[in-house]
Amino acid sequence: MASDALALPKTVTEESVLAVRHWTDELFSFRLTRPASFRFRSGEFVLLGLMNGEKPLLRAYSIASPSWDDGLDFYSIKVSDGPLTSRLQHVQPGDPVLLGRKPTGTLVLDALKPGRRLFLLSTGTGIAPFASLLREPETYEKFDRVVLTHTCRNVADLACGAELVDALAEDPLVGEIAPQRVTYYASTTREDFVHTGRITDLIASGKLFADLGLEGFDPASDRVMICGSMAMIADTKALCEGAGLAEGSNANPGDYVVEKAFAG
Ligand code: A2P
Repeated sequence: MASDALALPKTVTEESVLAVRHWTDELFSFRLTRPASFRFRSGEFVLLGLMNGEKPLLRAYSIASPSWDDGLDFYSIKVSDGPLTSRLQHVQPGDPVLLGRKPTGTLVLDALKPGRRLFLLSTGTGIAPFASLLREPETYEKFDRVVLTHTCRNVADLACGAELVDALAEDPLVGEIAPQRVTYYASTTREDFVHTGRITDLIASGKLFADLGLEGFDPASDRVMICGSMAMIADTKALCEGAGLAEGSNANPGDYVVEKAFAG
């Protein structure tokens, strides 16, 4: 133990796994202890990983729990030949996991101009930063209505998001307000479901807005956060630009912000 601790680079701390949940053959989530000194803004990501011999093997992961929570939640895909996730998927409660000391990211409320409606558009594990923001009281101080979309290949992949939305009513901080403010819109692309199709097609065709009883993106009051694959981001970004929304950043808040969902 003492020699392990000595080998740790200064940029990480060694945390403990508190819980693990396997959602599908390709998706799992886990909860880590949170060091007292670890500060982040809901929606940010951080490096995490495992020792690989003498060296740490670290990847970026969005933090799926809010900034006020005692523990840190993460979602990860399982890649059988992935250097990190081939091992990370086997962690058990009590196991050590390395956590970076410097969370960062653009899917934060500070990077958006004031607005009334917030769209959180996600595919796959891109839902993770939104799991954090949906449990963040500031989200509801800044926005009257929040629309969460989650698109996955199959119905089973949607379970983590559906459960998260259901659990909002029991949340100690946002339980009173979130259920009335949040609209959850899930769709699948490779299996039948209530809604089917890519989020880009659902936006472009107007079906998303028609289903929600809305007119479309209004640059005056709508703000958008996007998290998915590079291709999903590029395509969704183009639709936002086409609707007259301007990209924001921490330094220059705007109408929409993007971040890649990390493969792990
Ligand atoms: P599709 O099944 O049509 O590829 P993945 O598991 O590959 O990351 O995909 C997660 C979800 O994101 C899938 O439903 C997938 O749809 C969708 N998707 C993939 N590429 C894009 C894109 N360019 N724009 C919007 N959605 C996409």
